[in-house]
Amino acid sequence: MEKQLKVAVIGLRFGMSHIEGAMACGAQIAAICDSNAEHLRFAGERYAIPEEKLFTDYMEIVSDPAIDVVAVAVPDQLHRQIACDLLRAGKHVLCEKPLALTRADAEAIVRAADVSGSRLMVGQICRYTPAFEKAKALIDSGTIGEVYFIESEYAHDYMYLVDTWRADPDRHGVIGGGCHAVDLIRWLVGDPQEVFAYGMHKLLPQVAYDDATIAIMKFDDNTAGKVFVSTGCKRDYTMRTVVYGTKGTIICDNTSPTMTLFTAGENGMAGAPQIIDVEVNNHNAAKEFEAFADAILGNRPVLTDAREGAKTVAVCRAIVESSETGRIVKPDYTF
Ligand SMILES: NC(=O)c1ccc[n+]([C@@H]2O[C@H](COP(=O)([O-])OP(=O)(O)OC[C@H]3O[C@@H](n4cnc5c(N)ncnc54)[C@H](O)[C@@H]3O)[C@@H](O)[C@H]2O)c1
Repeated sequence: MEKQLKVAVIGLRFGMSHIEGAMACGAQIAAICDSNAEHLRFAGERYAIPEEKLFTDYMEIVSDPAIDVVAVAVPDQLHRQIACDLLRAGKHVLCEKPLALTRADAEAIVRAADVSGSRLMVGQICRYTPAFEKAKALIDSGTIGEVYFIESEYAHDYMYLVDTWRADPDRHGVIGGGCHAVDLIRWLVGDPQEVFAYGMHKLLPQVAYDDATIAIMKFDDNTAGKVFVSTGCKRDYTMRTVVYGTKGTIICDNTSPTMTLFTAGENGMAGAPQIIDVEVNNHNAAKEFEAFADAILGNRPVLTDAREGAKTVAVCRAIVESSETGRIVKPDYTF
């Protein structure tokens, strides 16, 4: 990294991964912030941050001209306010996923990013997960031919989170966690033009939203997709993903040390599966930060900028709307 970026992190639970990601890239942690004094002290001690650089009020970070980049890892409902304040102050913002919970909030962040001279990156971290990066490379190189169907799932038991901000009805599982699978599908094969979804509610009666949703998707180019989101499933966390192409099939996830590739031989039949070793790193915060630093310092586009994050929110909201109305919904990508 040419210039040493001065980084602050707001929200110090998942946000600690951003401290580690930035440090791994040689950035300086200039300040940290958490409204919970205990979380703040814990992170301060763990990363040896000087006392005078620990804040409980994020406005201290907004107003510090020395800070270049701020990672925002607070509850999703606060992304809009904090990201917009930071952008207005000229900070580059690495905002956790989902960009926002509502279309109005996503639009406000897109507008703030447009008028600011700074960059915003949404932490859609699956784009830096080794198995998914490999799947993207295999698709782009034509190894599996033309994709005709893709499915991805976000299966994560939220049982222990039902008393937290994650139970907010606006934080439907499809948006909060399912945005990972939706964003992955958008990255791998493009934007679905129509979605249709069913919701189930059997596992987490304490939350107002469905705890399982299945959505099917139609893309422009004779391709279909499916997303399954379960926030009460009785199994370990996974994002199993299968990509079917005219010449091959990829089976992968974000928690296994291998992925599987089938390709058709000369007779057109699939040969034996090829097992490919992959690093297990489903929160690759260092690579994510490196990509953001590279975009900032090299003045290059951000892969998951505000508009890209907003489009993923649009698909998630379309899925929720479809499951609630029983109608096909066309995501609105006009941001
Ligand atoms: N990329 C991923 O895979 C992934 C994984 C987990 C969480 N996340 C995202 O990261 C964000 C944080 O999630 P979490 O699991 O750490 O939540 P959490 O509730 O465990 O922690 C949030 C932290 O933010 C602090 N906070 C709340 N309001 C604040 C404010 N106004 N100013 C400063 N600090 C404040 C809280 O005290 C807490 O320490 C969310 O947007 C979540 O969706 C992403």
